[in-house]
Amino acid sequence: MTGNPGKVREAKHALRPLGFDVVQLQVEGVEISEPQADDLEDVARSKIKQAIPYLPSSDDALLVEDAGLFVDSLHGFPGVYSAYALKTIGFDGLLNLLKDSTQRTGAFHAVAALWLDGEIHVSRGICRGEIALQASGKDGFGFDPIFIPHPIQFNGSEHSTGGKTFADVDLTEKEKFSHRRKALDGLIQILNESKPASSS
Ligand code: IMP
Repeated sequence: MTGNPGKVREAKHALRPLGFDVVQLQVEGVEISEPQADDLEDVARSKIKQAIPYLPSSDDALLVEDAGLFVDSLHGFPGVYSAYALKTIGFDGLLNLLKDSTQRTGAFHAVAALWLDGEIHVSRGICRGEIALQASGKDGFGFDPIFIPHPIQFNGSEHSTGGKTFADVDLTEKEKFSHRRKALDGLIQILNESKPASSS
């Protein structure tokens, strides 16, 4: 359940090979509210509970993913308020808040919550990095143009974007670092352990 077609695309890509058919849940005429909460997991759980009554079939699984950018020197702001902060002050506003700051570390956090067989399973993903001095790049969305991920271990060796932001690299490259991908991978592990008998 999301209004973001990019998230649906990524979930299809990750879950179809496991035999799950992924469709975007439309709950027309119903407002799914986003509670004010300090933790992404509380937001994701609340959305799942609100949406369960609208599932087309009681056999269906339901996936919700919530994410945000947590800046260390701003005590985690914008965090759970990332979508609102992007809409109001934008990433320029965030750069402005950090203009005198030499401590520019932060992290994207994602929580993926899955309703499956009467239970909510939760998985988290974190991507640490630096807030860039200025925006760069045309790819991606949200705060991608101001986020430079820290190097990671990938296939046994250190891998970095070489100082490029998430908006400077393509999606395949972003996925190697991505908080969202890590959260989905955690759920894939859960799904693998309860693989459906058929692929429909
Ligand atoms: P959502 O509620 O999970 O869609 O994410 C909330 C906000 O966090 C989005 O509006 C973006 O501003 C920001 N965000 C989450 N994930 C990312 C990402 O991968 N790149 C850039 N911004 C992101």
